[in-house]
Amino acid sequence: MTNPLQGKRVVLGVTGSIACYKAVDLASKMTQLGAKIDVVMTDSAAKFVSPLTFRSITHRPVLTDLFDPASDSGIYHISLAERADVVVIAPATANFIAKAAAGLADDALGAVALAANAPMLIAPAMDGHMYENPATQENLQKLRERNVYIAGPAFGRLASGISGSGRLIETPQLLGHVALVLGREGDLAGWKIVVSAGGTREAIDPVRFITNRSSGKMGYAVAEAARDRGAAVSLVAAPTGLLDPVGVAVTRVSSAHDMRRALMTECHDADVLVMAAAVSDWRPRTTALQKLKKAPSEHWSIDLIQTPDIIAEIDSAHLVKIGFAAETECILSNARAKIQSKGLDLIAANDVTAESSGFEADTNQVTLIDRNGCVEELPILDKYEVGHRILDRALQLMKRS
Ligand code: PMT
Repeated sequence: MTNPLQGKRVVLGVTGSIACYKAVDLASKMTQLGAKIDVVMTDSAAKFVSPLTFRSITHRPVLTDLFDPASDSGIYHISLAERADVVVIAPATANFIAKAAAGLADDALGAVALAANAPMLIAPAMDGHMYENPATQENLQKLRERNVYIAGPAFGRLASGISGSGRLIETPQLLGHVALVLGREGDLAGWKIVVSAGGTREAIDPVRFITNRSSGKMGYAVAEAARDRGAAVSLVAAPTGLLDPVGVAVTRVSSAHDMRRALMTECHDADVLVMAAAVSDWRPRTTALQKLKKAPSEHWSIDLIQTPDIIAEIDSAHLVKIGFAAETECILSNARAKIQSKGLDLIAANDVTAESSGFEADTNQVTLIDRNGCVEELPILDKYEVGHRILDRALQLMKRS
């Protein structure tokens, strides 16, 4: 699976808000991800952005008129609704939300929204007072009760110049929500998957620590792949510069000790643990309370002690335990030894000296080895795709029936 939008038919409903320009970016990104986008605009939306803009980006007709004379069928809006895999309304004004809650179909978008059987995602965008108005809140609640997924709005600067809740969420978040909605019925629906990511920090003093080169990309990619297949995902993340993935429960930690505590909690009702974090094997025996001074000695040594081997400690009676092996030599034999010593079901061995692989890269080349010794060597793949390959194997190894 390259991405959840590949080959999907998306109806993108655009209503009259200054945030319409963001819908252009959303249409563009979804088109680049391989989705077929049918844009349906209200009259007010067409005052902010021309239908031609969307047509140029999606290379598809844009519906603005319920009785569009250019349409070869009088019921074009119905066929659009029937073919859709998901209906995304972004931006959705308070007016559209009220009409959708009341089931009105007095324009093309209202008719498509009412006729669609596909899951619907609404991303509100409006003035803060309009959003907070009990009428809007009641309408949103009605839609939620009908299983409509509401994404946002975000808090921030609004068109009026004041700050409040009412901003359309940004495109990367919107894409995450669309992926989440599309994946809800995926093959991992009903399973809980815990993923660890990033490099732990072992404090020397308040300003210094021991860490490693892990960016968190591998673990985040596994978490997003699991989310896109319908799993309930918990991500335990050591410090990274990455944004929390949409639809994933994230616990931020710092040291190996913190990560152990968070994982022990998350794993007790989980089905799979994928341990992509680079956990420091060592930590300073003591952490200085004040910043250590340079003087008086020219030499300085730190007394290190081992951290707990987290994945080895976690009970595997109900849990599929998948580790990574970050190796620089004797990759396969070292990885095999880790399967035994850590009680793993599967290990993903990566040569962290290879180009475009391991730490910080967007791609990785891993070899999967199971506890029976079966070896599957994967080519260099995007980390998201590596995540899917690991999850394919996890599905076969599930311990709960
Ligand atoms: O984050 P990126 O920049 O995307 O880089 C990805 C990665 C290289 C960090 C990732 O692909 C990877 O290899 N992660 C595991 C790194 C590691 O710590 O490997 P290890 O061989 O030292 O440990 C083996 C396994 O035991 C790992 O699953 C590790 O998480 C786990 N472990 C290690 C030490 C410890 N104290 N407790 C553990 O649970």
